[in-house]
Amino acid sequence: MIDRYGDYFTLQTLDQGMDRAKSEIVSCLQELFAPKGIVERNDVPVRKRELLPLIAGVLAGEVPDRVPVKMNGLQLLADLLHGQKTGIFLDQRENYAAAARYAHGRALDCFTSTGGFALHLAAKCEMVEGVDSSETSLKLAAENRADNGIGNIEFKEADVFDLLANYASARRKFDTVVLDPPAFAKSRGNLDGAVRGYKEINRRALQLLASGGVLVSCSCSHHLSESALLEIIAEASLDTNRKLRVVERRTQSQDHPILLTVPETLYLKCLILEVV
Ligand SMILES: C[S@@+](CC[C@H](N)C(=O)[O-])C[C@H]1O[C@@H](n2cnc3c(N)ncnc32)[C@H](O)[C@@H]1O
Repeated sequence: MIDRYGDYFTLQTLDQGMDRAKSEIVSCLQELFAPKGIVERNDVPVRKRELLPLIAGVLAGEVPDRVPVKMNGLQLLADLLHGQKTGIFLDQRENYAAAARYAHGRALDCFTSTGGFALHLAAKCEMVEGVDSSETSLKLAAENRADNGIGNIEFKEADVFDLLANYASARRKFDTVVLDPPAFAKSRGNLDGAVRGYKEINRRALQLLASGGVLVSCSCSHHLSESALLEIIAEASLDTNRKLRVVERRTQSQDHPILLTVPETLYLKCLILEVV
């Protein structure tokens, strides 16, 4: 997989076949795009299954600590060598803009990382609270907030499970809640535990939502299908006695191709629902 950040590229070769072609891929990128730098983010645990080492480093050129990119009119910083995924969650780009179409009032962005959803929602909301357990990601989120002159986002370091439970007990209310957790189901084997995790956060989010509120609920686990996620949210809505209308059923951005004969390529679900 190759992600492009302006003049810089990140590369992941996750199996033996692609890994063997790494230097040819680098040469092709140099010939076609003459990039300033190419990074490999091969520090992905799935490589261990193919007996490949976990490595992250510069393959060509030079790469600054933070690469500035424009996304949907915002200025964002990407840490290509150490950031989560390959720096920014580029697969959510179109979903950020979609969520902003419905967001309003007081918003809670759970699992905010470097602030992707929060920064996009800020212009449409009275205030946004962005929560993540990664201090490093939140530092970048705060820099993004400052670079875009945004004054109505508060970033908080916390465990989302604990925070949602505390907010629900305190009867806190929000008009928009975003859930973009890490892949709870990393394999088919731990699907049961993952389903419990998704159910828990969706149930809590619904408890926090005011009437007319908007839930943006994502899952990047290929092993959890869209219909399974819809079923989980339906059960959560029955548990919490909230009636939900599906507003949009979305997936990854168009530049992350879905190949019908490679089902793993369809992995991201982003459901937008309204409490009616
Ligand atoms: C899929 S990423 C979120 C991407 C982000 N929404 C964006 O668009 O940039 C998942 C995030 O969840 C965070 N995370 C994982 N477990 C967590 C937990 N229990 N509480 C809070 N954050 C957690 C990770 O640090 C990571 O930033």
